[in-house]
Amino acid sequence: MQTLRFLVTGGSQGIGSAIVELARAGGHQVVFTGRNESLIEKLAQKTGAHGLCADVSSGDDNARTVEACRQRMGGVDVLVNNAGYAYRAEIGDLDVEAMKKMFDTNVFGLVDITNRVVPLLKSQQRGDIVNIASTSGMKGGATGTPYGASKWAVRGISQCWQAELRPHGIRVTCVCPSEVQTNFGGKAGRNNPNKLHAGDIAATIMAALAMPRRVLWPELAVFANNPWKED
Ligand SMILES: NC(=O)c1ccc[n+]([C@@H]2O[C@H](COP(=O)([O-])OP(=O)(O)OC[C@H]3O[C@@H](n4cnc5c(N)ncnc54)[C@H](OP(=O)(O)O)[C@@H]3O)[C@@H](O)[C@H]2O)c1
Repeated sequence: MQTLRFLVTGGSQGIGSAIVELARAGGHQVVFTGRNESLIEKLAQKTGAHGLCADVSSGDDNARTVEACRQRMGGVDVLVNNAGYAYRAEIGDLDVEAMKKMFDTNVFGLVDITNRVVPLLKSQQRGDIVNIASTSGMKGGATGTPYGASKWAVRGISQCWQAELRPHGIRVTCVCPSEVQTNFGGKAGRNNPNKLHAGDIAATIMAALAMPRRVLWPELAVFANNPWKED
């Protein structure tokens, strides 16, 4: 694969940081965002990527992030919309304000930053957008109204962007991981060899990017093959 310029949102830990690490290991340039300054600093030092403290739910922060990409890398080839979190609650006991706040990150933030990056990609008539949705956006489940809806929205948005951007040589790939052992939802410290690791999602993304440019993988669900196996 030729050397590419990556922008990864939510790259300070978990799946995002695994993408930053794999992209850097492949010789690519990377700008990533997050909100935890010490994690950002640590990953930047470890990988040589440029880390920015920027909240994807803020339009001002997204403008600053895209400007940093222009200044540091001269643009963007691959946007990975990874920043996200889960608010879960049962209907009848749901805090709509908390749901709206989560949509500000998982949905409106993703749309806002992409809205700012797409003109750069269109001017090149080339680029990749990778949206991280979830299997929670493929099948509804108890307590899934807020989070599942946000990820279902990401899948629908991805299809709209595919329709709009394929004629410009821009590929949009929606990745739907099943459970991944990160700090997601405060579940820290898991390391079951049979369940998905953040690096597995990063490797999936790099595989999609490495396909010949005439090939589009529109949506990829990623499961652990045998997560029930005893260690
Ligand atoms: N883990 C799973 O089981 C799983 C399954 C399917 C889909 N996903 C999706 O995968 C993505 C990454 O999740 P993860 O498992 O890696 O979780 P994680 O370990 O909690 O990491 C989430 C990342 O997103 C960043 N982030 C959250 N809100 C942000 C905001 N408003 N602005 C900027 N950065 C923000 C966090 O930054 P700071 O910590 O610096 O704030 C962190 O770097 C999410 O979209 C999640 O919904 C996860």
